[in-house]
Amino acid sequence: MKVLITGGAGFIGSHLVDAFMARNDQVIVIDNLSTGSRQNINHHDGNASFHFIWSDITNCPDLHELCRDCDLIIHLASSVGVKYIMENPLNSLESNVLGSIQIMKLAAAYKKRIIFFSTSEIYGKSNATHLREDDDRILGPSFRWSYSACKAVGEYYLYALGKEEGLHYNICRCFNIVGPRQVGNYGMVLPRLVQQALNNEAMTIYDDGTQIRTFTYVLDVVKMIMHIADHQEINQQTFNIGSENVISIIELAHKIKAHTNSSSSFVFLPSKEVYDEAFEDIQVRVPNIDKLTALGVLYEPMDIDRIIANVVDYYKTPIVH
Ligand SMILES: NC(=O)c1ccc[n+]([C@@H]2O[C@H](COP(=O)([O-])OP(=O)(O)OC[C@H]3O[C@@H](n4cnc5c(N)ncnc54)[C@H](O)[C@@H]3O)[C@@H](O)[C@H]2O)c1
Repeated sequence: MKVLITGGAGFIGSHLVDAFMARNDQVIVIDNLSTGSRQNINHHDGNASFHFIWSDITNCPDLHELCRDCDLIIHLASSVGVKYIMENPLNSLESNVLGSIQIMKLAAAYKKRIIFFSTSEIYGKSNATHLREDDDRILGPSFRWSYSACKAVGEYYLYALGKEEGLHYNICRCFNIVGPRQVGNYGMVLPRLVQQALNNEAMTIYDDGTQIRTFTYVLDVVKMIMHIADHQEINQQTFNIGSENVISIIELAHKIKAHTNSSSSFVFLPSKEVYDEAFEDIQVRVPNIDKLTALGVLYEPMDIDRIIANVVDYYKTPIVH
């Protein structure tokens, strides 16, 4: 199979690249390296089945041919992270709307299957626990919701292309995916807390830390995406991708501090000060994953202690490939 992976130098994308390369598929990565890193995938350089194109998806001259010549498109390229979106508003909108629409149109034109990475932010500030794929979306005025709105445009676009042009697509809404190669610079909580703890710096917790989240190990996600990629009969579906193992941010911080034997203190920062006055954090964000588990793959998300251990190991000694 020949797979085109946009955003393949990023955190999740690079693990997908590894999985396809491991079974001798051909992989082409397009990435502008805005938040991803060439180091995440440079262990494949020299392999004839691997090709990297350093380009933005909004102006990649070869995009037509690349979409025409592949069997499957996995579209991850996106501005990500609340901090990054708030600091790069224009660029984020353009990547997430214009870039996605372009890829999706080409997928439809060349009759290629596409897997689109969407987000739990789709549900907005809904406090429903165990969010189902058909639950309401509730957004507020803060610019933070632009990410949710852009991903929703992508989802609607796929729906329209599916209905009118028969596009084969699936949508994966990720809930806090974590693991090696994720960076803490753009607002991702777990790598930020791990790095602060390892450096014995103050560990920054937004608001009072009682927010409830779930954390899913990236290789568990890769397993599910590979299954969707390999099963043509899965079509025009939306899946929550995550786990139902909940933890509060303050508990997470305590676990990380204990695991790293850190002397860090905790500093509580109002999220409105970190971002903007209109910023709203979400108290509870937990997926219902019945649709995902109904796929019939053995899915046992890794527990949080092992996840923390793996991420700490990664930051202590970057993985040797
Ligand atoms: N990690 C999570 O918890 C999570 C949660 C929800 C959704 N997602 C989605 O999963 C996907 C991958 O996220 P990630 O966590 O691996 O983040 P990431 O930042 O590591 O990956 C995104 C990649 O896309 C690249 N990119 C961004 N804009 C681009 C553009 N215009 N042209 C080409 N490349 C571009 C970046 O350089 C990066 O390599 C994204 O679509 C994101 O919205 C991730």
